[in-house]
Amino acid sequence: MKVLAVINQKGGVGKTTTTFHLGTALANSLRVLMIDIDPQGGLTYMATGKDPDEYETTIANILLGEVPITEAIIPVRDNLDMVPANIFLSGVEAQLINKIQRELRLKNVLKNVADRYDLVIIDTPPSLGLLTINALFASDGMLIPVEAKLMGLRGMAILQNLLADIKSNVEGFDVEIVGILPTFYDRRTILSREVLDEIKEVFGSQVKILPPIKTTTKLAETPAFNKPVYERPETKESDVAQAYLEIAKEVERWVRS
Ligand SMILES: Nc1ncnc2c1ncn2[C@@H]1O[C@H](COP(=O)(O)OP(=O)(O)O)[C@@H](O)[C@H]1O
Ligand SMILES: [Mg+2]
Repeated sequence: MKVLAVINQKGGVGKTTTTFHLGTALANSLRVLMIDIDPQGGLTYMATGKDPDEYETTIANILLGEVPITEAIIPVRDNLDMVPANIFLSGVEAQLINKIQRELRLKNVLKNVADRYDLVIIDTPPSLGLLTINALFASDGMLIPVEAKLMGLRGMAILQNLLADIKSNVEGFDVEIVGILPTFYDRRTILSREVLDEIKEVFGSQVKILPPIKTTTKLAETPAFNKPVYERPETKESDVAQAYLEIAKEVERWVRS
């Protein structure tokens, strides 16, 4: 089992949309568990179409050690399960402060499902708090969506610093960057293209830059359909559908490596 965190402390960069599209695509060939660890419950809504607040057992109970993870898992489709999140998660960071191994809660519970899944993919909140830290410590790799705008790059230095800081302070911490995913890409602007070059500069030439995802209402409509773009007849031939399928193949290679 490999664990992948979709991370960027900025909101609105496409984390949730990306997690959902990769989770559904990879479920065609792998056993996948998606984890929503954002109190907004955006992934929960996208995947189930239900109001996240209707779920009684969520990632909040898991992190607090109240129930076994198996009790919070809900089926989404063949080979795809998820652990939902909702507003109850917003108080959990404060409650975890006094607990032992507070950064390792998620890592420790995932050991209990290691033989059930090939891939766990985690959608993180727009902050670098304890929830995101739990996702990072639980992960083997991370995928970082970055808006293809100059603004999008500013926060990257902060994330780089956090990773460097954890690496130098925590023995054995080694989360690889599976890929940087430029989102809200607009091929027509020089700016978008410049940002691709910038991204390479910030992250170094070693890091894989995934095929960019264009700005399109087709993706913005996803929560209304609870279906990925590559499964909707009117969008399945689109660039973004093809791009997400290609990115899924890249992630699958990483899972199998
Ligand atoms: N490529 C895109 N083009 C247009 N809208 C998008 C795209 N990707 C995501 N969106 C929309 O932008 C908003 C933010 O995306 P989301 O995936 O929720 O980002 P995050 O999880 O990083 O906050 C959502 O309303 C989503 O539907
Ligand atoms: Mg989100």
